[in-house]
Amino acid sequence: MKEWMDVLPEVACPPGTLKPLIVDGLEVLIVNLGGVFYGLEDCCSHDGDHLSDGDMEGGAIICPRHGARFDLKTGAVLSPPAYEDINVVPVRVSHGMIQVQH
Ligand code: FES
Repeated sequence: MKEWMDVLPEVACPPGTLKPLIVDGLEVLIVNLGGVFYGLEDCCSHDGDHLSDGDMEGGAIICPRHGARFDLKTGAVLSPPAYEDINVVPVRVSHGMIQVQH
């Protein structure tokens, strides 16, 4: 059974920011979109770059290497050169702490 793990105080990731973390060896990107938190694997499906180094635009993250775009909520690929979605990571807030399921 998967468990929830505290990874970051909620106040450390205000709206409009993203935070890269390593959780049990998995590189995770935590995003605060308007007060709602989302988690994604921090790895572009095109050639593996860190999406956490990219820019956010609307509800998308833009890969810094070749410009592929992904939906921050769902991990769905929005534009090439990537053609595969990225995995989402379950995230919640409990008692002021951001938690990731692993
Ligand atoms: S590594 Fe992300 S678009 Fe190429």
